[in-house]
Amino acid sequence: MSGTAKQLLGEIEGFLAQFDITPSKFGVAAVNDGHLVAKLRKGSSVTLKTADRVRAYMASQRRAAPSQIACRATVPAAYRVLLIIGGGIAAYKCLDLIRRLRERGIAVRAVMTRAAQQFVTPLSVGALSNDRVFTELFDLDDEREIGHIRLSREADVIVVAPATADLLAKMAGGHADDLASSVLMATNKPVLVAPAMNPRMWLHPATRRNVAQLAADGIAFVGPNVGEMAERGEAGLGRMGEVPELIDAIASLLSSSAGASVSAKPLAGRHVLITSGPTQEAIDPVRYIANRSSGKQGSAIAVEAAALGARVTLVSGPTRLSDPAGVEVVHIESAREMLEAVRNALPADVAIFAAAVADWRVATQSDQKIKKSPGKNAPRLALVENPDILKAIAAERSGRRPGLVIGFAAETQNVIEFAQKKRKAKGADWIVANDVSPETGIMGGDRNAVHIISEEGVESWPELDKAEVARRLMARVASRFADARAEPA
Ligand code: CTP
Repeated sequence: MSGTAKQLLGEIEGFLAQFDITPSKFGVAAVNDGHLVAKLRKGSSVTLKTADRVRAYMASQRRAAPSQIACRATVPAAYRVLLIIGGGIAAYKCLDLIRRLRERGIAVRAVMTRAAQQFVTPLSVGALSNDRVFTELFDLDDEREIGHIRLSREADVIVVAPATADLLAKMAGGHADDLASSVLMATNKPVLVAPAMNPRMWLHPATRRNVAQLAADGIAFVGPNVGEMAERGEAGLGRMGEVPELIDAIASLLSSSAGASVSAKPLAGRHVLITSGPTQEAIDPVRYIANRSSGKQGSAIAVEAAALGARVTLVSGPTRLSDPAGVEVVHIESAREMLEAVRNALPADVAIFAAAVADWRVATQSDQKIKKSPGKNAPRLALVENPDILKAIAAERSGRRPGLVIGFAAETQNVIEFAQKKRKAKGADWIVANDVSPETGIMGGDRNAVHIISEEGVESWPELDKAEVARRLMARVASRFADARAEPA
């Protein structure tokens, strides 16, 4: 496959992951070839002319109003945040904030001040929030269709980030001369502000007065933190809070305002059981059969599950990785030990089988080191099949079977077809399928390109680093549990 084709396929996969278009429709719309993506996935090359046309098509779609293109919603949005983005360098953090909130099933609608648009574009904000971005107070269409009162009414909480010294002053003084300040004047919803400014501005008596006034008015604050400023050599109190801190603050505000339990930790109270790494099957006291699994993907999933509040048990074969913090790690060597450790860890709400379990072990393990007899025949190893841990756990009786059983399928050819068969044969709910051919560098590497196979079909993700695969996978798991939550009245 040529470099151009590989790069183009990466761009297309990213586009498909973002927009709800099937690969065949994509090909037809871009270059009138419904098989384009399939051919690229199989390794075909592409002419520069075709690549240009495909890129022009993706650019035109991205330019179109983001709201006209349905993004693949990961979860039904149960809570709504109106995010007012102020004009500061920290505005870039809002992009990540929007993604993380949406992963947690929280819808985000954004208002941007004029200054904010100097730092991030409404286009990127809209693409991530999957909604229109509101910028003008006197926009006839907006006022007719959705004015500042409605923006406030349709939100559960309002978040101002970054809250500049100027925005705080406007809020404290009751100004309403642009859309952001008008929404803030018109709202009766809880408001959280995340200040970000130069330390001298934060410590200025005017800002001190404004902050005290806003706190007295019932406005909630998160940050600022001490840290380095964007300006060279400047440091001190004034750095905007980090995204996880903002999420925690938003979640607690949503919980108290909605009277419901909203959590930045959507897997709190859940037990997630993960197998990871290779297994080693002893031949004799010094030799063993193993494979190239690094355990990185399983370990990244454990980290993410713990970050979402789950109690996590990681049953891991021998790897070079250190144990992730906040995770109970059970170290095993062989497949049979892994099965026993997994059974001991039940019950679990979710079981994720990321381990590369050795399919076979030697029938009779030698107690003593097998000696070489020069000139004589090499010993023959008789192999027997190891227990299939995933299959065994998926077949557990109801009550003991985890509610969601997720397997991996490491394939070197016909990835989706083989993985679909594996899902049925093993009784898994989802299979995370990946191509582990040596040229992909996935086995042992830091990146992964996976397809999520479930009863509903196949979802192909672009090549991502393993931590991002873990984040998306656990967000999908969390959304499965969040689905049970009711839409707000
Ligand atoms: N698996 C398992 N126990 C085994 C073998 C595999 O739990 N003895 C799990 C893996 O952790 C993975 C899934 O089954 O989640 C598929 O593993 P994979 O190695 O892709 O498939 P195999 O069943 O080994 O089939 P094959 O090697 O023929 O592709």
